[in-house]
Formats: sequence, C-alpha cells, structure tokens
Amino acid sequence: MNTKLKMAIVGAGIWGENHAKIYNAHPFCEVVAVCDEKPGRAASMAKKMGIPRSYENYEDMFRESGCDAAAIVTPDFAHAKAAIAAANQKKHILVEKPLATTREDVFAMVEAFEKNHVRVMVDLHNRWSPAFNVAHQSVEKGELGNLYSGYMRLNDAKWVATDMLPWAAQSSILWFLGSHSLDTLRWFFNDDVARVYSVSREGLLKGLGVDTVDTYLTTLEFKKGGIAQMENGWITPNANPCVNDIKFNILGDKGMISLDVSNHNLIQKYTDEKVTVPDVVVQHSIFDVPKGFAFESIRSFVDCILSGGEFKVSVEDAANASLTILAIMESAETGMPVEVRY
Ligand SMILES: NC(=O)c1ccc[n+]([C@@H]2O[C@H](COP(=O)([O-])OP(=O)(O)OC[C@H]3O[C@@H](n4cnc5c(N)ncnc54)[C@H](O)[C@@H]3O)[C@@H](O)[C@H]2O)c1
Repeated sequence: MNTKLKMAIVGAGIWGENHAKIYNAHPFCEVVAVCDEKPGRAASMAKKMGIPRSYENYEDMFRESGCDAAAIVTPDFAHAKAAIAAANQKKHILVEKPLATTREDVFAMVEAFEKNHVRVMVDLHNRWSPAFNVAHQSVEKGELGNLYSGYMRLNDAKWVATDMLPWAAQSSILWFLGSHSLDTLRWFFNDDVARVYSVSREGLLKGLGVDTVDTYLTTLEFKKGGIAQMENGWITPNANPCVNDIKFNILGDKGMISLDVSNHNLIQKYTDEKVTVPDVVVQHSIFDVPKGFAFESIRSFVDCILSGGEFKVSVEDAANASLTILAIMESAETGMPVEVRY
C-alpha cells in the first residue's frame, strides 16, 4: 500500500493529542490537519506534533486539507455539528463518545451519516478492555448460559470534574462514563434497554464550584428480560491511586464472572510523597509507541477503514446508548421509571 489514510482532528485538547499520537504511530495513517476553535490552540498542537496544517474552523479544514476521515474530539455537547459537517463533506468519521447529548442531535447525525454514505464509528472503547473482552468471549461461547443480571460500577475521582474537564458542568458523568457502562452492558446482553429507573445525588461538586450531578444509581430492564444496575459518579476521593473505580459482575443461569478492573496491582510505585498504581492497561507507551485499550479502539477505526472491515461498535449501538442516557436523566429528575424512546 503506498497511500496512507489522511486524518483530520477536530479538538486540540487532551484527548485530541492522544488521537494524533495513535494515527501517527500507525504505519498506514497520518494526521494532515488539526482544528480548534480557540485561537492558537490548533497551531500550537500542530507545531508540537509535526502536523502540517492547522485551522480554527472545521468547515475550512474538511474542504482544504485533503483528509479522508475526521476524528471529532470536541467536548461531548459539540460532537453533533462537527460530525454532521464532516459527513456533508463525505469524510469517514470517528466520533468520541458519547455520540450526542440530545435526541435531536442523535437523529440529525444518523440522518447525515446515512445520506452521505460515510463510515462512522463511535469510540466506546471498553469493548477493547482485555478483562471485559475476555469475559465477553466467555459469554459468547455460552459458558455462563442465558444471562440473567448484571452490575457495573464506573466512577471517576473528583479531580476529573474539578480540574481536568473545563466543560464538566456542561456535561454529565452519565455522558462521560455512563456511556461506557451502558455500551458494555448492552454489548453483554446483546440487547436494547426497554425501561430505566434512576436516582441521583448532588451537592459535593456544586460545593466545589462545578454545577453538575455527583452520582447516579440506575436500574436497567432489557427488552429480552435481562436486568442490570449501573453506578456512575465523579466524587471518589482524589487520593484513589486509580482514577477509575471499576467493578463488574455478570450472572447467567450456568455461571458468573466478576471483574475488579481498577485494582489490577500489576505495578505499585512508592515515593516519599505518595503511593501510585501506574496505568499499564488503559493508556501508556512502550518505547514511545502508544499502547493500551483506549488506543486499540482508535487504531481499530483506522484498520477497519483501510480493510473495509466491520466496526466493532455500530452507530446504532452508540445512538441507542445516548437515547438510554436521556431516559436515565429524565428518570432521575422525575423520580419515575421511564421507557426508552428509540
Ligand atoms: N475515549 C476516551 O477514553 C476519552 C477520554 C477522554 C476524553 N474523551 C472524549 O474526548 C472528547 C474531548 O475531551 P478532552 O478531554 O480532550 O477535552 P478538552 O477540553 O481537553 O479538549 C476539547 C477541545 O475541543 C475544542 N473545541 C470545542 N468546540 C470546538 C469546535 N466547535 N470546533 C473546534 N474545536 C472545538 C476546545 O477548544 C478544546 O481545545 C470528549 O467528548 C470526551 O468525552 C474520551
């Protein structure tokens, strides 16, 4: 193969930089341009990472840069407009999770993708997590029998909302992590959620100046009868050595699997100041090459575009996860169970 897949990135933030590293580490891919609406931000990332062109407007970038595909790595609420613009210029698209945060955006995106015949994947990367993937293989082989119930806890430490994401108050832990939980549970049950009931609590983060809900506890009823609970919050203590607190259990009529993914303890680091458990599973680098399952999903997008292979996460999966999160929010606000509207 003599040509490389040409990627353009929208959003020169923390995760946009990770996208660039992964594309540039791929033997058959290169980043040709980056865009950020904040003046100077894309130019500075382009200089730092050797990206030939930078823009402050993605319409100009899609038109002029010669890209084949676009990665949408803006804050959650800004995915829709950028992805629709990319689709209208016939670019294949990798959208960061979640697909979108309103019902209108979900349907407008799906319509734009279908009308323009572009290929689209959403970066719901938990399917590439070694522990979850191996557990899923066991379910697929029938080792657990028919799935009965599930539980997933996926929490972040407070600093993610207070210090990492400047737009935390414009999003929700349900969009930021709940999208992964829902995708994982939908994938295991191989089913859509029919009805949700959720309760939430707030106050801790508001007290720290971030106007967002602290935590949600949600019950899910799947269409074919499976039941599950999921917990998503961003108020675990900052001293937690792992930013994520992840527990998972899946029970079938022949067996059960439990995962404790946050406490892998493969490596512990002690200094005079603190104890840490460096991440060697999600995102790290080996001889300067990006590794980890958060990177595998992005690499898989490139591989599937080049090979014509089927994406491991469909647009329908991501759209239905977003519509389910909207039902969860409605349930938590009204205090009533809510049927998911697809
Ligand atoms: N898959 C994962 O593991 C993972 C991890 C972290 C973040 N994310 C997702 O990646 C996305 C970005 O997160 P982040 O942490 O990099 O945020 P960030 O705030 O660091 O970066 C976002 C950038 O997008 C820019 N932006 C906003 N609107 C824009 C627009 N209309 N056009 C061009 N640029 C625009 C902002 O100026 C900012 O520089 C989010 O959707 C987040 O949920 C995914």
